[in-house]
Amino acid sequence: MPRWVPLLGGVLGSTTCGLLLYAFSVFIKPLRGEFGWSATEVQLAYAIAVLVFGLMTFPAGKLSDRFGPRPVVVIGGAILGIGFYMVSTINSPEQLSLLYLYYGIIAGFGGGLVYLPPISTAPKWWPDRRALATGLTVVGLGLGSFIMGPLATSLINNPNIGGGSALPVFKYVGIAMFIMAIVAGLCLQNPPPGYKPAGWNPPAPKAGAPRAGRDYTFGETIRTIQFWMLYFAYFCGSFAGLMVIGVIAAHGINEMTKEAAALAGVAVGDLPKEVTAAIAMQAAIATSCLNAANALVRVLIGAIADKTGTRICFLVTFVLQVVAMLVLFPVGKQLFILCVVAIIIGWNYGAMFTLFPATCLQYFGPTAQGSNYGLLFTSWGIAGFVANLIAGRMFDIFGTYMMSFVIAAALVAAGVIALAITKPPARLSA
Ligand code: 2OP
Repeated sequence: MPRWVPLLGGVLGSTTCGLLLYAFSVFIKPLRGEFGWSATEVQLAYAIAVLVFGLMTFPAGKLSDRFGPRPVVVIGGAILGIGFYMVSTINSPEQLSLLYLYYGIIAGFGGGLVYLPPISTAPKWWPDRRALATGLTVVGLGLGSFIMGPLATSLINNPNIGGGSALPVFKYVGIAMFIMAIVAGLCLQNPPPGYKPAGWNPPAPKAGAPRAGRDYTFGETIRTIQFWMLYFAYFCGSFAGLMVIGVIAAHGINEMTKEAAALAGVAVGDLPKEVTAAIAMQAAIATSCLNAANALVRVLIGAIADKTGTRICFLVTFVLQVVAMLVLFPVGKQLFILCVVAIIIGWNYGAMFTLFPATCLQYFGPTAQGSNYGLLFTSWGIAGFVANLIAGRMFDIFGTYMMSFVIAAALVAAGVIALAITKPPARLSA
């Protein structure tokens, strides 16, 4: 098959996952309004989805190494679409556990199966542009959030479709996801063994470099210290990014509201409705800035890393992320700077989804990339789950997100150290 086809599969599959993961905040208010659930109760569905999605990538990678990517993505896409669709059948407040089951567990499960195989497959067709190909297989996560936010809002508000309810959106979008993910799966196939693009030869090893050897098996990979260093750094970076994605709008609203009340010399609760509505709109702009950077970086950093190598990109983005996390609290009250910081955070966060798989491929070779990267990515699911719980808890204790951001900055700083001291593993002799 032409080698752009698996790339297309990656873009489609990742867009489907973006619809699942990065627009959930749009549903929170309508679901609460319809069923009277608390914010924490609805948020738990999201935390479960992130955890299940993240943990499923490991079996998804193993299955993809064993049976090829196509059946895994097709079956995962069907499960994802059905789970999302089933949310539309919920009809009473007593059915909160069904939201956890359909959205959190079933859709999260299918999503993990759809997400991983394209990442481990498409770059095998592009040994000459590995990081860029990886970037294209994850760019849809950002695109999906872009499409889904406005699309879901307009469907919810359309009197002939949602009429204020989020439930019909789950039905229509579930059907669209089902179709998109299955088409994505059909576009995916591993290249034949020893595949090289026409006219391309692997670059000759540099003088003095160790002789090229065989790839690591999965068992060998997980016995290297490098793998666990990457795992730790991925956890730290994901913790910070997912925490901010979950709370940036709320953080902006809190701090800008306090500032507006202080300037007007009134209590927060006495601010006129138009002012609080305008602040909510402004906070949404910060979220969009973060999403845009999160999407764009995935492709751009791939093109850069193909030239510079992934290491320098890692170090620069992680160091920048520490700084951004440290200033995020004080900049919350000023829209323009908040947007600049949101862009930096989205940029650094999105870069990881190109840099980690590309580094894993470079360190351990393509043979067990599905299993290797599948396991590496579970750190994201665990980080997202923990970050969501900690952010909520810290807010309950302190009334602001400051402590959460400080914890995240400290973790990312630890991640920088892990990445700085990690060197590629030795090549194995055949
Ligand atoms: C990503 O954005 C799913 O968070 C993962 O690629």
